[in-house]
Amino acid sequence: MSRPAAERREDLVALYRRARGCTACPLSESRIQVVFGHGNADADLAFVGEAPGFHEDQQGVPFVGRAGQLLDELLAENGLEREDVFIMNVLKCRPPENRDPQPEEIETCRPYLDAQVELIEPRVICTLGNFATKLLTLSSRGITQVHGRPQAQTIGGRSLRIYPLFHPAAALRTPRVKEQLREDFSRLPALLAEAVEPSPALTVPAPGAGSPLEDPPAVDQLGLFG
Ligand code: URA
Repeated sequence: MSRPAAERREDLVALYRRARGCTACPLSESRIQVVFGHGNADADLAFVGEAPGFHEDQQGVPFVGRAGQLLDELLAENGLEREDVFIMNVLKCRPPENRDPQPEEIETCRPYLDAQVELIEPRVICTLGNFATKLLTLSSRGITQVHGRPQAQTIGGRSLRIYPLFHPAAALRTPRVKEQLREDFSRLPALLAEAVEPSPALTVPAPGAGSPLEDPPAVDQLGLFG
């Protein structure tokens, strides 16, 4: 049974506040700031990237560099914007020189990702690139093999779909990958419609009932829209 969105959102803000001071691994010594995640706290659709890069570390918000611009473009092409989704990463802190995440860093950071998924309750998670895909599909099959194929998965006792996509940074490097990413992305609205059961509370709002999340408090870089 799902907990009320307002409660889950409060817990997400509390988790964000805890994560901001995290010193659980050595990345805390080289980062400028923790990049927790950004977007709609009650999103049906979430994206999980790899780790913050230079710009994300500066601004505290995921996907704000060139890869993020491409992600915004693809969202817009499919009638979506950041306000509709929640965007986060496997690692919450930038690895020095943008090197690959190390297994022990992924392990140490994992509880934040699990808690985010449990609190946001997305129905579809797009994993961007190899690290997020292998972690959340529990498989060693790489993104080239599994992109564009939704997979059923259970996280925190909830069934959801993982939809692996090429990482936008890889798409910026290789035109064919960009074409493929665009094609896979275009199937997202249909997948989302399938995965989202119509909610009577949303289709028939009680007269005069406002959403408790309509007037979100500004919480630094968390940018909660939902
Ligand atoms: N690449 C990622 O995987 N995450 C970001 O936030 C930015 C670039």
